[in-house]
Amino acid sequence: MADIWTPDSWRSKPILQVPTYPDTDKLKVVEERLSSYPPLVFAGEARSLKEQLANVCEGKGFLLQGGDCAEAFAEHHGDNIRDFFRVFLQMAAVLTFGASKPVVKVGRIAGQFAKPRSSDTETKDGVELPSYRGDIINGINFDPESRIPDPERQIMAYRQSAATLNLIRAFAQGGYANLENVHKWTMDFVADSPQGERYAALADRISETMEFMASIGITSDNYSRLRETDFFTSHEALLLGYEQALTRTDSTSGDYYTTSGHMIWIGDRTRQLDHAHVEFCRGVKNPIGLKCGPSIEPDDMLNIIDRLNPDNEAGRLTLIARFGHEKVQDHLPKLIHAVEREGKKVVWSCDPMHGNTISAGGYKTRPFDHVLGEVQSFFDVHRAEGTYPGGIHVEMTGKNVTECMGGAKAITEADLQDRYHTHCDPRLNADQALELSFLVAELLKEGRDSNNPAKIAVNA
Ligand code: PEP
Ligand code: CO
Repeated sequence: MADIWTPDSWRSKPILQVPTYPDTDKLKVVEERLSSYPPLVFAGEARSLKEQLANVCEGKGFLLQGGDCAEAFAEHHGDNIRDFFRVFLQMAAVLTFGASKPVVKVGRIAGQFAKPRSSDTETKDGVELPSYRGDIINGINFDPESRIPDPERQIMAYRQSAATLNLIRAFAQGGYANLENVHKWTMDFVADSPQGERYAALADRISETMEFMASIGITSDNYSRLRETDFFTSHEALLLGYEQALTRTDSTSGDYYTTSGHMIWIGDRTRQLDHAHVEFCRGVKNPIGLKCGPSIEPDDMLNIIDRLNPDNEAGRLTLIARFGHEKVQDHLPKLIHAVEREGKKVVWSCDPMHGNTISAGGYKTRPFDHVLGEVQSFFDVHRAEGTYPGGIHVEMTGKNVTECMGGAKAITEADLQDRYHTHCDPRLNADQALELSFLVAELLKEGRDSNNPAKIAVNA
């Protein structure tokens, strides 16, 4: 495109899903303060993620992306971060075993605060108020004061992201993720479930392998890959003033990166070609995700791909399909055909959450069998097309919440009220997240075997 990109060129484009701040002077002051703050991540880390995603693009890795729908100020506890991280490590261990490939770990964490909403207002008992838009913008309490967008919240979100990232870096590099701890990551409430037992069996095999390696002199003391892991952060780049304020020029490459997180994505509601969100994202060099819902047409999608990734660089763009379990077969093949026809390099990931939201017993929920169904269809379509299903994108927590119905513990509509804590969409609990991982691991293993006819013959 001939248009010159600058960190603020999005400001002259049409934009959806933005809050109206009553005090624009205060907003300006906050954005200026943020633009002088230290970056949360380094450009070099975002590049390293891009390299790992380029590997996924070639079928040599698998992307695991997950975390809260919306992070919340009130939920900012060390235990929550640790519990998320340990379940995420378990999922990654299960997937690595299934895929026999490296799993690229990307959290929806340390910056996932801004939410697009289907309606600008919310009505309760005849009272209409502006919708909650995530803690970085306004408050969730249903009173007029809370719902006023407050720029100071951006500073709070930045500080919380920094603290979360600090703990996660410590866990990832400081020994918690050491594969010798593979048995210790299981949450108590999962230990006695079928998933817990399956996981324990897998952890035994990993431990045996570690013992074997130790016997030939490879230990976590002398081999850092056993003791440390790479973990990246991501969030929806919705609040563009905040993203712009954290955009920096990388001193080694001279390129722009948003330093609010390693990877950012564009939501299904803000992906219009000539609008502000696509404009902002095209100019920063971070890996970018694009949510693709049922309304995206192949030609629109190709235009957005060209705008976001004009050099067709592998690892730059991840297409996150989120159609709903019954719609995958109708929508995904035509998008895959377009990508294949034009030779576009993308990672295909499956978000089995956002197309499967229903309302039950007064709660927003997701039937777990629909979540599994969407993942299964996603893999089926890719297998039929001969393309690579490269990742999953899920809303999940390490806590024992009751937000999605079903799973091995058979959470019912009546159970939803017990521990329904999400600030936005319903998340998989630790048990459901592991169950999903085992399914994906099996699908990945089938994919391996189908590329290896001898293996199939033996298995049959
Ligand atoms: C989300 O990921 O929380 C979200 C709002 O997704 P989508 O844009 O796909 O609806
Ligand atoms: Co969500």
